Amino acid sequence: MPQETLLNSAAALLAVCAGTAAAGIITRTFIFETEAKDDNPALPLFSFSIYLTDVPLDNHDYGSVGAQTWGGACILAEMIVEAPTAFGIPEIITSMPLRCLELGAGTGLVSLTVGKIIQSKLATVTPKLLGELGRLEVVATDYYPSVLANLDTNIKANFSSSTSNAICIESQALDWSQFSSPEYLSQAISLQLPFDVVYGADIIYEDQHAEWIKLCLWKLLKKPTHMQREPTFHLIIPLRQTHQAESNTIERVFCREKSEPDIRRPKHDGGELIIKHRETILCDAETGNDNERVEYLYYRIGWDI
Ligand SMILES: C[S@@+](CC[C@H](N)C(=O)[O-])C[C@H]1O[C@@H](n2cnc3c(N)ncnc32)[C@H](O)[C@@H]1O
Repeated sequence: MPQETLLNSAAALLAVCAGTAAAGIITRTFIFETEAKDDNPALPLFSFSIYLTDVPLDNHDYGSVGAQTWGGACILAEMIVEAPTAFGIPEIITSMPLRCLELGAGTGLVSLTVGKIIQSKLATVTPKLLGELGRLEVVATDYYPSVLANLDTNIKANFSSSTSNAICIESQALDWSQFSSPEYLSQAISLQLPFDVVYGADIIYEDQHAEWIKLCLWKLLKKPTHMQREPTFHLIIPLRQTHQAESNTIERVFCREKSEPDIRRPKHDGGELIIKHRETILCDAETGNDNERVEYLYYRIGWDI
């Protein structure tokens, strides 16, 4: 994906994603439009809007960080719009079911974007195929009650009850720290089956996050078979100077060179989860200062079988 293209569009979007902490509750419209490009005739053309409510960060309530939309979600959403197939959304919707999951969804921008792209594709499906479609699901998860309530509001604002029955977009409680216990998983019906694709934006900022998320992925990311798309976890994080040690945990936890298999891995699993691709993305900082840039890291993580 050309970095300059991404940088230009993400910079515009980032300006919108910034600075909500002091702004009070705000509702914004994100407009995604792709334009026909001579050098990329295969680029899918989309035009849709997403309405998001952001709730201000409550400094006495650390858990409420997810009630705001962070820059990582803006960039990941933009990347998905630019190249949906690279992010697990098939070029043509067929009778094959598709399950998409977002971890730490916050306000839900990434999940809503995925849902809107699938919805746009459904609009071109013939009535005959519509009846034969497999289930298309997007499950946006988070763990904090007020964040989940806001996520639910955002889903309802963007997908009315008249949305095609072929697509299901829902919020679901999922706490990474609790997830490995069997009782926890059995309570969440929408998490019973594994997912084709998992997304995460700005979800690794404490020591244990990468470890917890790996344990979730072992259960929630489908194992590859020759019949399927390659199940993938798409992760983006900002490089915050204050959180360098936490960011480094990603490379350690999803390390290709790990010599010993992790003993906590369920016995039936054949492979290890590793980083397959890593890319640095530079964006203009929201300060409006011309020379100030924020660095993000994008990781594609999958099974090494
Ligand atoms: C910095 S915010 C990013 C939110 C959103 N992905 C975005 O980029 O706008 C981190 C998110 O991770 C969620 N989170 C933190 N710890 C979690 C845990 N143990 N289980 C599930 N979600 C968690 C928070 O509630 C929050 O929504």
